[in-house]
Amino acid sequence: MSSVTIAISGLIAVCTYFVTVRMIPRFKDMFIKAGLFGKDLCKRDNPQVPESLGVLIGCTFLVAMFLFIPIPYTFEESALFDIKTGAKPATFPHEKFAEMIAALLSICCMILLGFADDVLDLRWRHKLLLPTMATLPLLMVYYVNFNITTVIMPKFVRSLLGYSLDIGVFYYIYMGMLAVFCTNAINILAGINGLEVGQSIVIGASILFYNVIELAFGHQVDCHKFSIYLMLPFLAVSLALWKYNKYPSQVFVGDTYCYFAGMTFAVVGILGHFSKTLLLFFIPQILNFLYSVPQLFHFVPCPRHRLPKYDVRTELLHISTTEFHLKDLNPLGLLMVRILKNLKLISWQEQVDGRVITNNFTLINFVLVLFGPVHESVVTQFLLGFQVICTLCALIIRYPLASYFYEA
Ligand code: UD1
Ligand code: MG
Repeated sequence: MSSVTIAISGLIAVCTYFVTVRMIPRFKDMFIKAGLFGKDLCKRDNPQVPESLGVLIGCTFLVAMFLFIPIPYTFEESALFDIKTGAKPATFPHEKFAEMIAALLSICCMILLGFADDVLDLRWRHKLLLPTMATLPLLMVYYVNFNITTVIMPKFVRSLLGYSLDIGVFYYIYMGMLAVFCTNAINILAGINGLEVGQSIVIGASILFYNVIELAFGHQVDCHKFSIYLMLPFLAVSLALWKYNKYPSQVFVGDTYCYFAGMTFAVVGILGHFSKTLLLFFIPQILNFLYSVPQLFHFVPCPRHRLPKYDVRTELLHISTTEFHLKDLNPLGLLMVRILKNLKLISWQEQVDGRVITNNFTLINFVLVLFGPVHESVVTQFLLGFQVICTLCALIIRYPLASYFYEA
């Protein structure tokens, strides 16, 4: 009966898409009136654009999911009520039910905390704390439900560590860190129209594709069904948001959306038991994070905004820059910039007074270092194309190569 459940989930997703598409334009002015707007920094005269629309589409996602809650238990035989007595059968999947509620609670908390971030414009150390707090419902339910903290070892270390290893509390730390990474990694690959939503749509579609393959040929059917139930409405609301956020943006998504998307991915990765595959779909975000490390950890000065600079005359984007004196960097910072410079991964201009000017260390700026000034929509298309190519690489790594490390 799972195909009926998936079909209903798809139907709810389609309805959610049309409702969201109609809702966004009606709420735009309300956000501006409430002072929730940002300046589009890559346009002439920096027009005001309503920001934090992520909170609206997060809510439509939650309503769609709330309406979906009874569906699996109405059609799955193991969960059917006895009509005469109204009793639940012994096979009723209480754990799965609790998991679904906990997943929605974590996503709901993340939307609330993300909106708080948009309104209060929190500092970076708080941004790391928010997803950690929002994963607590999920982790606590996982502890009560399963508390399985054993990981299967890759084949080549089994002679040393055995087939599996119980890593105890570290499993929970890993799950918390996964949520912190997924949410913030999307939030820092941002700043040009459509990129936050575009990358989330590609990642969401990749997860859905992977779930369908696993459902057809794999063993962990329940985990992948659970992921599909979340991914279909997630893609529906994201596609509706994309319609208004793509170049030229009529609305901005806000940190709320980045956190919402990241947390939804983390939840399906954790509860679907495919967190390693999930990370494979984040290759561009991992590269952007690694490239950003010198600025994120303040080895090199990090301005409030690292998005590219708009040239009013040509309407093209140029690299945005940061500057420093080499003598002001600590040895580790110096080593990092020297490696990046020697690998030609950053632009480098040494001034007569000893100041060095480089691009800000983001993937968006790196594209501009490689290709020179480019139009904003082209940079977004390029990065989304790269995200799709990375998904194909991820699937090649996941299927043929994984059999060298684990049983197929
Ligand atoms: C992150 C990045 C920051 C980047 C910002 C852009 C790090 C450490 N932080 O900060 O470098 O500048 O995202 O989102 O990498 N904006 C546009 N056009 C867009 C999207 C956003 O001009 O297409 C501008 C608007 O002014 C908007 C603001 O960016 O108001 C949103 O920034 P915010 O999400 O608050 O920045 P952070 O997530 O803190
Ligand atoms: Mg942001």
